[in-house]
Amino acid sequence: KARRILAGLGFNPEMQNRQTKKFSGGWRMRVSLARALFMEPTLLMLDEPTNHLDLNAVIWLNNYLQTWKKTLLIVSHDQGFLDDVCTDIIHLDMQKLFYYRGNYMTFKKMYQQKQKELLKQYEKQEKKLKDLKAGGKSTKQAEKQTKEKNPDEESNEAPELLKRPKEYTVKFTFPDPPPLAPPILGLHAVDFSYEGQKPLFRNLDFGIDMESRICIVGPNGVGKSTLLLLLTGKLTPTRGEMRKNHRLKVGFFNQQYADQLNMQETATEYLQRNFNLPYQDARKCLGRFGLESHAHTIQICKLSGGQKARVVFAELACREPDVLILDEPTNNLDIESIDALGDAINDYKGAVIIVSHDARLITETNCHLWVVEDQSVNQIDGDFEDYKREVLEALGEVLRTSQK
Ligand SMILES: Nc1ncnc2c1ncn2[C@@H]1O[C@H](COP(=O)(O)OP(=O)(O)O)[C@@H](O)[C@H]1O
Ligand SMILES: [Mg+2]
Repeated sequence: KARRILAGLGFNPEMQNRQTKKFSGGWRMRVSLARALFMEPTLLMLDEPTNHLDLNAVIWLNNYLQTWKKTLLIVSHDQGFLDDVCTDIIHLDMQKLFYYRGNYMTFKKMYQQKQKELLKQYEKQEKKLKDLKAGGKSTKQAEKQTKEKNPDEESNEAPELLKRPKEYTVKFTFPDPPPLAPPILGLHAVDFSYEGQKPLFRNLDFGIDMESRICIVGPNGVGKSTLLLLLTGKLTPTRGEMRKNHRLKVGFFNQQYADQLNMQETATEYLQRNFNLPYQDARKCLGRFGLESHAHTIQICKLSGGQKARVVFAELACREPDVLILDEPTNNLDIESIDALGDAINDYKGAVIIVSHDARLITETNCHLWVVEDQSVNQIDGDFEDYKREVLEALGEVLRTSQK
């Protein structure tokens, strides 16, 4: 049982026997997740369990939890995972918990419906207030009278005026690039190894064009991030070369990058300086990517990981890239923003290369899967479901379809 769990979370037989103190932080996190699964507690609480996993481990964990008999309480921004695993959703909103039956998809529909209803009620209330005031009542009288007609059966609290339902909308957009002749970017006869280590890649040969939608998959440590660094020219091949159209503009996102923003500047100053933008335009752009107003004008070092990620996405859009290269872009984003990113990728006319453990983002954006294995990169024939089956079969697991 222990080996099955460890294998599913990406530990090869050698690693299964290795002392835990010899693992890096990310792997120790997996050990503790394995431990929790092994103990099978009556109540298992998982806080963002997929964040530090690669896609293969997410696929395994998702499948493993399909047959979990006891209670699970999960906090996660991985919609595919929530849809497959959860039977109930608790929404923490306005300091209260709201309970919904069904998975995330069901919750989303019901919530949108509820918001619509609330808005209708609010508008009715506002109209009534206006009418009363037009009829000669003072604001105070009008409000008092309206409150009494707002019976909130569930609570014994004093009646309150309804507040305008808050709308949380983020919209990511990447401007359409001009056409470029293919191939726009590629690796030719490329070998690569880090100094003093065994080769990661041998004889890579491929090119992409403006229509390419690619998701790079493969277990942790196989070289996905390295591949992206070779494509962006941040690493130089040991042999062979990276070739690109000389007009090509690359938009690159990774976590290290977010940590390398100029920390002393504010996000607004950062965009203004880099893109020669007027103050208002810089702020508008940050707002569109979901950075709250007050965060526009404080030093970047004081922003959270998620806020920094938004600054980087805003910067990416300002670069007007012909290709987007994204390494685990969802880690610091909330569900709404991951949706917004998926929509933006779908609207975008340039090429996209992405490494992600978010199954839904991959399927929503119709990315082709390229798997890194045996020191090369191969296109998978088949879709995401085929890949899932392949990953589970290789682990000796049975694919369970969700009943939710
Ligand atoms: N800067 C580096 N120097 C030496 N080795 C590295 C460096 N970056 C990554 N590696 C090693 O190269 C391998 C591939 O890493 P990476 O490309 O980050 O994999 P992935 O993104 O697929 O998890 C790993 O074994 C990792 O330890
Ligand atoms: Mg990586």
